[in-house]
Amino acid sequence: MKNHVVSLSAVAIAAAVFAGGAACVPAAMAADASPAPMPLGLQAGALRTPADNPITTDKVELGKLLFFDTRLSKDGTINCATCHAPEFGFAEPRKVSTGIGGAQGGRNAPTAINSGFSFFQFWDGRAPNLEEQAKGPIANPIEMGHTLEDATKAIASVPGYKPLFKAAFGDETVTTDRIAQAIASFERTLLSGNSAWDRFAVGHDESALSDSAKRGLRLFEGKAKCSLCHAGFSLSDGIFHNLGVGMAAAEPDLGRFKVTGQPADKGAFKTPTLRDISKTAPYMHDGSQATLEEVVDFYNKGGEANPTLDVKVVKLDLSAQDKADLVAFMKSLDGDWKFARPTASPK
Ligand code: HEC
Ligand code: HEC
Repeated sequence: MKNHVVSLSAVAIAAAVFAGGAACVPAAMAADASPAPMPLGLQAGALRTPADNPITTDKVELGKLLFFDTRLSKDGTINCATCHAPEFGFAEPRKVSTGIGGAQGGRNAPTAINSGFSFFQFWDGRAPNLEEQAKGPIANPIEMGHTLEDATKAIASVPGYKPLFKAAFGDETVTTDRIAQAIASFERTLLSGNSAWDRFAVGHDESALSDSAKRGLRLFEGKAKCSLCHAGFSLSDGIFHNLGVGMAAAEPDLGRFKVTGQPADKGAFKTPTLRDISKTAPYMHDGSQATLEEVVDFYNKGGEANPTLDVKVVKLDLSAQDKADLVAFMKSLDGDWKFARPTASPK
């Protein structure tokens, strides 16, 4: 019951923050605001909000500022949005991430959109929630390059943050956990729904999808088997599968295996959401596929053969028209959100 209430108030905040940017959130919209609707197609009750971090407007506002604050990185050049840019669907246009001092990681940044619905964070699921996730990049030597202590000190030394922490947490104390809680709360408001697909499938608007996208939807749920893994409103089953991406490399990224040590998990990665997929190229955990057409060709040939290939990945025998229809369907998954970056960081 309690969770349900939390989600609904989160929804009200989300609608306000996402629609108009920080300045438009009315201060009165705290605990007992009447809930605004979740974007069409999303399920409010499915948002995963820990009991000790209920969403409030003040926390979301603070988290938004932190998400865009380069002082969380050691040399003051990188913020979360460097790799999760609103203009690219909260993902990045590079194959793999480039962090502090130009250092390159081995993985492509997944979208932060709708990440509040996930049971696991990261491609390999090594973080259980957004709070734990947020600490990862700050302390990652090739992402933001800080220690959590120093990043926390850097934020604590900014006078302009003090009243914001007080409003969000009751007193001015800046802790690593509070930074992570605020960022996680903000991320839970990055909701994408009301896509053409939602308006068609949930809103029963026949005209929302083109004929090609409608055929694509039938293929997606049928012959092309996509919905075996890209399931439900978030278009992800939330678990891990091996498609063979990158497995031909001399030292492949073993993905989920590194977390569980289970041989069957070798090369398995979390099924990503496909919402806003048209904005987040390149694709796959290593950014190795440049376009949605390339992705469809990859599935059509049955992925990349390797000893732990998922049994659901098989040759598909799609025609050129089928492939175009699948791409048209995926392009119908863009949400109708708008986002305004904060105009300045606290001083
Ligand atoms: C240098 C680039 C970079 C920066 C900076 C960065 N990230 Fe990421 N982010 C990534 C990459 C790459 C991954 C995937 C890593 C992996 O799976 O091992 C990721 C994963 C994530 C995920 C998991 C999404 C999912 O579906 O599993 C979230 C959420 C996220 N980042 C939020 C943040 C936040 C919050 C910050 C700032 C505190 C941040 N990121 C800073 C590159 C970056
Ligand atoms: C066996 C489960 C499974 C099936 C079936 C499946 N996918 Fe995926 N999909 C995944 C996983 C897991 C990834 C990430 C794999 C990786 O990076 O190694 C992925 C990645 C993607 C991506 C890239 C997403 C991104 O953010 O980089 C797209 C696009 C995609 N799939 C579309 C499809 C389409 C279209 C179909 C049907 C033709 C399909 N998928 C079938 C599990 C599946």
